[in-house]
Amino acid sequence: MKVLVTGGAGYIGSATVVQLLEAGHRVVVFDNLCQGHRAALHPEAALFEGDLLDRAAVDRVMAEYAPEGILHFASHTLVGESMERPFLYLDDNVRAGLNLLESAAEHGVRRFILSSTANLFGLHDRIPIDESAPVVPGSPYGESKHLLERILHWMDDRFGMRYAALRYFNACGAVSPDLGEDHDPETHLIPLVLQVALGQREHVTIFGDDYDTPDGTCVRDYVHVYDLARAHVLALQALDRGSRTYNLGNGRGFSVREVIEAAREVTGHPIPAVLGPRRPGDPAVLVAASDRIRGELGWEPRYTEMRDILESAWRWHQAHPRGYGDR
Ligand code: UFG
Repeated sequence: MKVLVTGGAGYIGSATVVQLLEAGHRVVVFDNLCQGHRAALHPEAALFEGDLLDRAAVDRVMAEYAPEGILHFASHTLVGESMERPFLYLDDNVRAGLNLLESAAEHGVRRFILSSTANLFGLHDRIPIDESAPVVPGSPYGESKHLLERILHWMDDRFGMRYAALRYFNACGAVSPDLGEDHDPETHLIPLVLQVALGQREHVTIFGDDYDTPDGTCVRDYVHVYDLARAHVLALQALDRGSRTYNLGNGRGFSVREVIEAAREVTGHPIPAVLGPRRPGDPAVLVAASDRIRGELGWEPRYTEMRDILESAWRWHQAHPRGYGDR
């Protein structure tokens, strides 16, 4: 299949491009390279450099490449930032998605995969969280993905566009020592912890230890980027059998303190941690029930141990202590 991958030079997008090509698809990446990296682009993928807020550019890529399917990764993705700058999410994320969807509908694209998020379940106490759980976004970021999921419902209803909404829990790890996580600024727990181990930061700050969890710190379901990528390839193959929504996680929760402790073991570095205040928008516990995608698509995560996840990330960070080096 000929597929368009927005954000294909980003962390999860670039990992997915590798597997799409391995599965025999042809790939064109649409990326503005603001958060993505040229060095993360697969040499066999074509690049169309452009911004999704530029509708004319979106129309051009559709006309030029005539994709049969779209995987939409490009997005602002930070829970904390979205609490500070809600319109960056409620406006830009939604408008970018609308530009893409409207153009896709006009150009007859009938397959669409959305990167959605566990932050749809911001205020939740039924753990693990399956797809029937009520959607109560924890932040403007989660809300922006919720709005896009709703819009997809109407794309299917009005245009017969089959979609998969994949709600990632906490993406992590690296697919190889040369393809990993490089954000600027970095705000995610695992890369920050590993930057302490590299000597680039003095300590990691724990955002609150007064949550209603076993050790008081937030619990997250860390799912490896290889396993997320695999889910996209499987979902794309299944779209002709109808639209679908999946929660994507390992089904195991690790607290912030547990992640830091595991990183100390993997790196052999003491990784000092200091306690700070809570970060607005952070739910206490997010752990996925992924039975639906396991049952329907046979998806099985390969990386279920925190140690294996951290080892893969650590290999990337050691090989690329300054990330892709293009900042
Ligand atoms: N944390 C710290 N200190 C830090 C950074 C993070 O204690 O310096 C904590 C956070 O409070 C949170 C946990 O570590 O409890 C994980 O935080 P991340 O920033 O790594 O990830 P988030 O859970 O905020 O968000 C990520 C993605 C979102 C996605 C979400 C789904 O960035 O896009 O997972 O759970 F929606």
